[in-house]
Amino acid sequence: MARKRSSKSTKGKGQKKTRRAKNSGRQNAKRLTLEEKLAQYFNEALSFENAAVSRLQSRIKEVQLEDVKQQLQQHLEVTREQQNRLKQLITNLGARPIHDSGQLPILVPPRTLANTLKKSMTSAERQIKSAKEDLIIENAEVTMYDTLLQVAQLMNAGDAVPVLNQNLAEERAMADWIRANTPAMITQLYPEIQSSIVLPEGEEGREVVTEGAVTGGLSATEENESLGATATEA
Ligand SMILES: [Fe+2]
Repeated sequence: MARKRSSKSTKGKGQKKTRRAKNSGRQNAKRLTLEEKLAQYFNEALSFENAAVSRLQSRIKEVQLEDVKQQLQQHLEVTREQQNRLKQLITNLGARPIHDSGQLPILVPPRTLANTLKKSMTSAERQIKSAKEDLIIENAEVTMYDTLLQVAQLMNAGDAVPVLNQNLAEERAMADWIRANTPAMITQLYPEIQSSIVLPEGEEGREVVTEGAVTGGLSATEENESLGATATEA
């Protein structure tokens, strides 16, 4: 106790400064009505759903595994409904729904490493990378709705609560599906990764590998092709 009191007296000046900075920050924040504030929050959420629609559309085009494609297609339809629900809330608040897209989160390695990774990346690894990003995005959406719901509840935004609850439940369901499907997906894709790995010297006999592949004379794609061709013959 005594120590606490003495540290308080020595740091008193600094603390006062911080408190003042915080207070001035609050005074500078533009004051909005409850409706304006909520409309801004919902427009922010809508901007991420707008981005999610574009991303899901391109994911559906590129994805190779049929069950993942179907799930993404279904989530695209769900996302469009989420957009519509948010737009309705925003309009009810007397504001205009945003058309712009926000930036969805992904993991970005340093550029030099990203370039190195890209050079040896198989199609299977690209699919795993995209599936990982799908899950990161759905988890971010869960966090977004979870937080928004708590604030909306405190604001007594009655009609928004069921909408946010529904969107939250749908994002959770999608994140759960991806998480549950990931082990099967990786198992399905792994042989392609395995066949792209150069075996240690003396172990080449375990698989039929062309000389070019072992010495690294072929690109990763060419290696896959040659390995795939010989594996089916074996
Ligand atoms: Fe989503």
